[in-house]
Amino acid sequence: RARMTRRRRIYEGKAKVLFEGPEPGTLVQYFKDDATAFNNQKKGTITGKGVLNNRISEYLMVKLGEIGVPTHFVRRLNMREQLVREVEIIPLEIVVRNVVAGSLAKRFGIPEGTQLPRSIIEYYYKSDELGDPMVSEEHITAFGWANPQDLDEMMSLALRVNDFLLGLFLGVGLKLVDFKLEFGRLYENDEMRTVLADEISPDNCPLWDVKTNEKLDKDRFRRDLGNVEEAYQEVARRLGIFPEGGPRDMKGPSTMQ
Ligand code: TMP
Ligand code: ASP
Repeated sequence: RARMTRRRRIYEGKAKVLFEGPEPGTLVQYFKDDATAFNNQKKGTITGKGVLNNRISEYLMVKLGEIGVPTHFVRRLNMREQLVREVEIIPLEIVVRNVVAGSLAKRFGIPEGTQLPRSIIEYYYKSDELGDPMVSEEHITAFGWANPQDLDEMMSLALRVNDFLLGLFLGVGLKLVDFKLEFGRLYENDEMRTVLADEISPDNCPLWDVKTNEKLDKDRFRRDLGNVEEAYQEVARRLGIFPEGGPRDMKGPSTMQ
């Protein structure tokens, strides 16, 4: 604990804390059990979520790295922490959709579960005060959040991630309905690279059982569907990465000093 309290806290978000890393250019990403929904109006705790998201995100980032998608992930450090490269976060949420759900269903009155004829990419401006408004490429380039080259890069990476994750989840009986990605800029020998950052976990992607359409993601928390902890555990179990000790292994500090 002494080690943890001495570290400099760089940033605290709703589900994660970022600490100064052991070497320059690195950060430690700590996964909390805290959950929020509807722009902070609903708050709660999902026991063991941080432990599972740490593992799920590690697993997916490593696999994506193996197919050549650059990510900020370096290695998992312990139950709740992973070492990542320090990046300058591009203030956009890139959402890729395969099936109609969530805000898309609401906006256009299309039933949830409708298969889309092709994947759709949407951009949202990251701002809690504004409630992450949806933006177009015109807004993004006019306001300087990213340039057309960054946008091309993020779009092509997002589509590769989608193809890969669709197949990966389908292989374990899960339908990847949509997901949210965040990218960051990394400076390496005077060169700028765009890399995948943040996390990929049931916190930011609806996952439905292929046979029953049962939701196995944060929507169980958002919509008070019950069995929230079990849903995260089931995703980890299907990916073959559920902690050996089971839930016993998942207790850990729920708040950080
Ligand atoms: P939406 O259907 O509510 O617009 O959500 C689309 C995707 O974005 C979904 O996979 C969940 C993710 N998402 C976040 O990661 N953070 C957010 O604040 C919101 C609203 C959505
Ligand atoms: N990520 C949350 C949600 O999807 C939004 C929030 O945390 O405020 O509802």
